[in-house]
Amino acid sequence: MRISPLAVQALLYALVPLKIHSQTHEDECTHGKLYVTDNQSALIHVFDVSEGKLQDLTEETTMMLPSVGAGQLVYYGPPGDPLIVQYRGQEGLGYQDGFVRVINTGFSHDSHGDHGHVEYTDPSIVSNAIIDECARPIHQVRNDDKIAIFCDGSFSTDPQVNTTVHVLDETMLGSSGSAIVHSRVLQGTHHGVAIPVDDNHLLHSVALKDRVDRVPGTSSLPSTFQVVDYDGNILHELSDTSNPDTHCSGFHGSASVENTFVLACDDVHGGIVVVEYDPQGGGYTSRAITYPPDEKYDSFRIGSFAYHKNSHYIVGSYTVSGGTEFHLAAFSPSSTSIGESNILTLPSDSRQCAYQFEVGTGEHLLVLLPNGVLHVFEIADGSFTQVAKKEIVPNMSACSEATFTAGIGQAFVATPGTRSMYAIGLTHVEEGEIDVFESTLPFTPTAMTVSGFSYDAACTLEHDHAHAESSGVKTSHVFALLVIAGSVFF
Ligand SMILES: *[C@@H]1O[C@H](CO)[C@@H](O)[C@H](O)[C@H]1NC(C)=O
Ligand SMILES: *[C@@H]1O[C@H](CO)[C@@H](O)[C@H](O)[C@H]1NC(C)=O
Ligand SMILES: *[C@@H]1O[C@H](CO)[C@@H](O)[C@H](O)[C@H]1NC(C)=O
Repeated sequence: MRISPLAVQALLYALVPLKIHSQTHEDECTHGKLYVTDNQSALIHVFDVSEGKLQDLTEETTMMLPSVGAGQLVYYGPPGDPLIVQYRGQEGLGYQDGFVRVINTGFSHDSHGDHGHVEYTDPSIVSNAIIDECARPIHQVRNDDKIAIFCDGSFSTDPQVNTTVHVLDETMLGSSGSAIVHSRVLQGTHHGVAIPVDDNHLLHSVALKDRVDRVPGTSSLPSTFQVVDYDGNILHELSDTSNPDTHCSGFHGSASVENTFVLACDDVHGGIVVVEYDPQGGGYTSRAITYPPDEKYDSFRIGSFAYHKNSHYIVGSYTVSGGTEFHLAAFSPSSTSIGESNILTLPSDSRQCAYQFEVGTGEHLLVLLPNGVLHVFEIADGSFTQVAKKEIVPNMSACSEATFTAGIGQAFVATPGTRSMYAIGLTHVEEGEIDVFESTLPFTPTAMTVSGFSYDAACTLEHDHAHAESSGVKTSHVFALLVIAGSVFF
């Protein structure tokens, strides 16, 4: 059920004064900083969007990374801090010129009892987390204060370049000794993922046997998953193919929320596998969430996820390879199946260019379509409700014309063809309004992300409201009250 925005606003104004007196000091919040790569240098361009000002974005500083060959620097995975930058490497070199760098964004949030201050120092490359010769880094996963970097390797090179996984311990970044706490060469080469589960526990994909044996034409997608310790002992296997709860074929797409790991399997498997880790007992269990059985979804599968630690729902891109129908599917990791009410069919046969949760609160899913229109959804009871939409890029007709990233109460679309940056303010999205500020970049943008924040210090849409009312109250609590009040009154 939708709560009327006006009613929400009225309640917000009514409730905020009740809390003003409970907190006298301002708790500073940040929108983070925007990091943009360009198409002809190894520079990262940094824009300060931390205070919420989106008009006339101007470059604050740049950072030089190791030079890159053909291709560009990329980011992958949901926004986070520290910033991870990857270069995939050149195919002709077996991708062995690929590398990963960790960037200290200079962000800190100092707590002084009843209030906190956000501060930034200059960004720098973290010197004890240098990863070179990482052949084709694509998927990186953060969990348990660690980041696993998956270097796919190279199949066609002779000899092949095996898949390699590196685990970075975030708590050791910048300290003496290496922050790379584990590196592991896997059998063969494949397009998979590794997830840090716990100290000394790593969940990772396993290549198909034919792939390991280098049978030409074998799929690069994994056969299944296993959990190993850093000595290589297998702690848990997902190898029982007689049961969808205990294996995952053709994996592509993972999500991780604390000790729950979500793996998207192919249509042959028929669903998602959720792996749960029990940190007390050290054991693992797994179970399937099935795709809809309806014939019209024959051969459809999920191939990627959007997720946020605050969202009860994970969203997957649900489609069929080569098809013209595109869906998003929302599901709770505790469910057992995905049904019709969980599925959003995207308009006019258009595949989403990007879909991400707003980073600060995870309450809104942002979806950019090939026509340049941004749609904003809320997900309640596993169903999508559109709260706002707006054309961001005029005359856009293909995803290749734009790059997108979600920020904290903000989002950004950049178009290489026109060197335009569209900075999107979401402060009033609950009232159906989206603000767009266009500026011109002095370079051709290729990829971007938001970093330099912590979830504790991230501005919320509600905070901005309260800010305007000069209360400084952390109104996320107030908003929680509103939702309850809303469902009672409307
Ligand atoms: C970068 O993009 C510009 C157009 O914006 C193009 O002229 C130039 O050739 C591109 N450079 C590379 C290395 O791709
Ligand atoms: C690379 O994978 C192959 C199997 O494809 C295996 O025989 C070899 O031992 C692996 N190399 C390393 C260094 O582990
Ligand atoms: C969009 O396209 C129309 C018709 O092709 C054109 O008149 C208009 O100027 C274009 N707008 C922009 C912003 O490029």
